[in-house]
Amino acid sequence: MNIKIAYSNTWKKVLIILFVFTKTVDVFAQKTNSTLEKSIESKIDSIIPLLTLKEKVDMCHAQSKFSTKGVGRLGIPELWMSDGPHGVRAEISWDSWDYAGWTNDSITAFPALTCLAATFNPKLSGDYGYNLGEEARYREKDILLGPGVNIYRTPLNGRNFEYMGEDPFLASKMVVPYIKGVQKNNVAACVKHFALNNQEHWRNTVNVEVGDRALYEIYLPAFKAAVQEAGVWAVMGAYNKFRGQYATHNELLTKKILKGDWDYDGVVISDWSSTHDTMEAAMNGLDLEMGTGTDGLGTNSLNHYDNYYLASPFLKALKSGEIDETVLNDKVRRILRLMFRTTLKPNRGFGKINNKEHHAVARKVAQEGIVLLKNENSFFPIEDKEGITIAVIGENATRSMTAGGGSSELKPQFEISPLEGLKARYENVNIVHSMGYATGPSVYDAVIPSKLNADSLRIEAVKIAKNADIVLFFGGLNKSHLQDCEGADRTQFNLPFGQDELLNDILEVNKNVGYILMSGNAVEIPWLRNIDGLIQTWYLGSMAGYGIADIISGDVNPSGKLPFTFPAKLEDNAAHSFGVSSYPGIDQEQNYKEGILVGYRWHDTKKITPLYAFGYGLSYTSFNINNVKTDKKTYLPNDKIKVTCQVTNSGNLDGAEVVQVYVGKPKSKVKRALKELKGFEKINLKKGTSKTVEVSIDASDLAFYDESISDWNLEKGDYVVYVGNASNNIIKTIKINIK
Ligand code: BGC
Repeated sequence: MNIKIAYSNTWKKVLIILFVFTKTVDVFAQKTNSTLEKSIESKIDSIIPLLTLKEKVDMCHAQSKFSTKGVGRLGIPELWMSDGPHGVRAEISWDSWDYAGWTNDSITAFPALTCLAATFNPKLSGDYGYNLGEEARYREKDILLGPGVNIYRTPLNGRNFEYMGEDPFLASKMVVPYIKGVQKNNVAACVKHFALNNQEHWRNTVNVEVGDRALYEIYLPAFKAAVQEAGVWAVMGAYNKFRGQYATHNELLTKKILKGDWDYDGVVISDWSSTHDTMEAAMNGLDLEMGTGTDGLGTNSLNHYDNYYLASPFLKALKSGEIDETVLNDKVRRILRLMFRTTLKPNRGFGKINNKEHHAVARKVAQEGIVLLKNENSFFPIEDKEGITIAVIGENATRSMTAGGGSSELKPQFEISPLEGLKARYENVNIVHSMGYATGPSVYDAVIPSKLNADSLRIEAVKIAKNADIVLFFGGLNKSHLQDCEGADRTQFNLPFGQDELLNDILEVNKNVGYILMSGNAVEIPWLRNIDGLIQTWYLGSMAGYGIADIISGDVNPSGKLPFTFPAKLEDNAAHSFGVSSYPGIDQEQNYKEGILVGYRWHDTKKITPLYAFGYGLSYTSFNINNVKTDKKTYLPNDKIKVTCQVTNSGNLDGAEVVQVYVGKPKSKVKRALKELKGFEKINLKKGTSKTVEVSIDASDLAFYDESISDWNLEKGDYVVYVGNASNNIIKTIKINIK
């Protein structure tokens, strides 16, 4: 689409929205006396009978890549959507995946969701959601296609960076404020991908088999929290199959659990091309079909939207009576409800974009989410001392990490690279840079090798490393195909692009090396014992370089904690330990054989020491956790278990610590994980001060999903409460009893 058409579409949209306000009021005025005061439901009751069958069907599928039709004659607006979880994506063309080429669609790129999860700070997640929602509103989006809460099951999943880690409790606590924040702007969040899209490999076809316990205890809780605690207005179905039926129109997932058990009143949107059947889509709860290429017309043909499963074939089945009109009316009701929450909401704000508050939140999330993994000999922080040379090595010191990655790709107004961030912070230190290795551009679905000469790059990097006082290696993965990117999984657990070899060469000439790992995934780190400093920085968006410099310089004390386990080797990961039938599956059939033992649950229970544990992260100061208590020894099912402890900052710097409370049930009628996260609290502490922290847990949250009764079951008896600052650093255990 050319710019002119794109602009005319915006104008069309603006006019339609204006038209809607007047027209909708007209319609209501005819039907009711006090239109705007009446509840949304009665407004919807009055609109549905005015619509023709065709108009209603038209509302249930796309009219372009990212919009749906309104009903112009009644002032019912179009709906406009945009990716994604970390920022509002640049405008896409009407009928193709090409960018529309607008010049007014640059945004703030916020850190990736793994980083947000690593903050363990729900309040900050609320700020993230609110600020991002403001940008979506400014860009006139009604639905933001995020956040993602698929569980981190394998470190090879190309999309883990878009999600919130391996623990359902952490993901639930972090996703709720994000959604509420977005929706305060009258922009719908769309939590995705429901459900079990835990790998990209074969994502369109793989059939996932997983038991009910793991389904309810591990893979669904964050979605449930999004629905029941955050009141999310849209849910996106997943590409994969579950128990032989596509997830997007899966009878158990969408119809029974989401719309039945959870009483979800919002819209179920397909993923782009995840719909496969009219009858199932109609009957199992899909409301809005997007992105399908059907009947051989392909995703890029003009006006193929009429051939969508929820378009002409749906209309035909309605006309013949094969599908009852009430089925359609329910979908239209949900879509109208979403409109009343968003585009038809009176006094909706205008949003904001690229303002300093948004940049500040992006930087704060980066600061709080970066995880200090190793700090021998106080390698970090690095002082700004005259006469010192720092060799900054690695392509990731300068590479854009908002480009690539698939649908989460962003077009930020600016993106501060780590090298720029360091140069801005360090005035006295001499900073030199060499790429060391080079990869090609981040292109979807293709690997394009760099044309630069690998040997020359390596020789140059080793040379500058030799003459430097300190080496900072900025490596890890990137947003290219087969790295941290949608559409495919990583094909190796170790670092790509010859980084291990380069690092070993550098270590031959300089032992003073710190590694800055930019990734959304765990990687193998064979040379760990040879380096003093290691920082996990994720993908940090617009303010990346500043956030990284804040931590490296010590302007900000790190407080991030890992939202997933780093296994020492791939086979130590639960999914991989069961071989190919468990990951990636055989002939597109996959069985989650590890059941509930995902992430630290597996490592703890099977006593497999991880390289870095879930919940782990260092600080430049030190904390003591003392005086750990529960308020009682015995609890009833409706009680709250209050766990208190005193946290002291015993070091020389102000800092923040995350108190983590896990609970386990040693004797149970079913196999349980040794312990599960049930509460956490992040606190800021000035040096030398102490605070009492209270973590409150609902006793009912200790229930397990009992397959024998298809319901949650709170077993009576003894439980163990574990309190610490990482899943592998438990300071105190306390026995309690549930009566
Ligand atoms: C992705 C979704 C995304 C959609 C629209 C799909 O390929 O799986 O996460 O929202 O495209 O870009």
